[in-house]
Amino acid sequence: MSIQQEIARRRTFAIISHPDAGKTTLTEKLLLFGGAIQVAGAVKSNKIKKTATSDFMEIEKQRGISVATSVMTFEYNDLKINILDTPGHKDFAEDTYRTLTAVDSVILVIDCVKGVEEQTERLMEVCRMRDTPVMIFVNKMDREGKNPFDLLDELEEKLNIRVRPLAWPVNMGQNFKGVYSLIDQKLNFFKVNKTRLEDDVLEIDINTPVLDEKVGQRDADQLREDVELIEGVYDAFDREAYLNGKLAPVFFGSAVNNFGVKELLDAFCSLSPEPVGRPTDKRPVTPDEKRFTGFVFKIHANLDPRHRDRIAFLRICSGKFERGKFYHHTRLDKDVRFSSPFSFMADAKAVMDEGFPGDVVGLYDTGNFKIGDTLTEGEDLQFQGIPSFSPEIFKELINLDPMKSKQLDKGIEQLTDEGVAQLFTLQPGNRKIVGTVGELQFEVIQYRLENEYGAKCRWVPMNYTKATWITAENPVKLTEFIRLKGNQIGYDKDKNPVFLAESDWILRMNSQNNPDIQFHQTSEFK
Ligand code: G4P
Repeated sequence: MSIQQEIARRRTFAIISHPDAGKTTLTEKLLLFGGAIQVAGAVKSNKIKKTATSDFMEIEKQRGISVATSVMTFEYNDLKINILDTPGHKDFAEDTYRTLTAVDSVILVIDCVKGVEEQTERLMEVCRMRDTPVMIFVNKMDREGKNPFDLLDELEEKLNIRVRPLAWPVNMGQNFKGVYSLIDQKLNFFKVNKTRLEDDVLEIDINTPVLDEKVGQRDADQLREDVELIEGVYDAFDREAYLNGKLAPVFFGSAVNNFGVKELLDAFCSLSPEPVGRPTDKRPVTPDEKRFTGFVFKIHANLDPRHRDRIAFLRICSGKFERGKFYHHTRLDKDVRFSSPFSFMADAKAVMDEGFPGDVVGLYDTGNFKIGDTLTEGEDLQFQGIPSFSPEIFKELINLDPMKSKQLDKGIEQLTDEGVAQLFTLQPGNRKIVGTVGELQFEVIQYRLENEYGAKCRWVPMNYTKATWITAENPVKLTEFIRLKGNQIGYDKDKNPVFLAESDWILRMNSQNNPDIQFHQTSEFK
């Protein structure tokens, strides 16, 4: 098979949702339909229990499983599909944002009872930053949910994207009869069934009495009316607009009942994009380029605390990756080579001899990698679009054991390279400030510093709520601002100055009063 054919058959995507909407269930059902797993339950166990938010033993235990399930690869209809798992817990949102830089499209799961929830909106914002194509699956149709038309309006309004239903439900909740495909005019009849993979599908002309016989006159009339309205109100589905991230096709179903999942998967296979190009600091890279390039979007600590090696997840962006070949690590300006890179077929790891754009390679790492690092065949470039977002909670890291300060420094360096949290240094006294999006990370860091590095620490909460990266066209103005603001200025790990604000109001005031200074919400400035 040529590289072009290999690229054309790959689909790399993530499933995202507000916790509880059904992401895990849908992931599992897609794997089931794809033949990657035989029984349900494999993915479920990866989920951090919602009740045990501060129980890291739980996280530790689950880490072993989650390496294997971080990427799930399976073959379906001659396509090679890579699902990149994203943590559902909101404290790990930044992990999700970074994973979204490594996918070519997403499926967004919505709970039909709850509609668009807080986390859904934030995730969509990240998708929109990169114009990632989005497909929406409205889940839990076996429950009494919102009116589907109202849901469509809500999606458009809150998610700031045009929508186009490609399937339509016949009633819902107790009276849920099935879903009518607006693509191929087939009606899929709903049955409560958690194990069946066969769908009960009928090709149907909804304007004939056959429909009345099948679903009853009331539901039949309603469906006819709905379909007429949809065809009248919505333009024909525009795939280009979907691929440009401007239009989201909408599907309905009930993941737990395996219902509507196959339609979603089939539509996904025919509509979703093959691997797309990515920007770098020098030039855009396209997948069909001969020379290999890729970047690290996730780093996973090893389960065994006695070994500090980690697993770096690399997304291949162009060319062919080969085992044992030397590649150029552009940040460190050195050549590196991997003797046992691995892929994530089914629910196990397997040695990967070669990989193609869209694939994710697992690389054993002894501390060479940082999120965003780029590998090439020699060209000096750095993939863009893996920004750090402003953390929301800040605490000062205090060393409790002066004999172990080296270990603590190394530990916090490495953990923040993994992207667990962000590290800022306050100049006077070199104080270390750690910023995260959730409380849970502080507990995880403390636990891991102790268990993996033998260093003990405690946290002192800081009043900051926002970190914004600052730049100015005139370097003199920037130096002046930094001098004036004193202890509100920190430096990130790349020594970029950051303004730490106690509130949005303070940030706004500083921004208004200092027109020469630009304040950036992420570490990558456009
Ligand atoms: P998440 O990953 O997005 O957090 O959601 P997850 O798949 O874990 O689903 C959250 C809950 O919603 C689960 O129930 C799951 O069974 C249920 N669920 C998923 N899809 C459907 C559906 O189509 N219809 C209905 N009625 N429920 C659905 P749970 O009680 O938290 O767990 P479980 O013990 O039932 O597995």
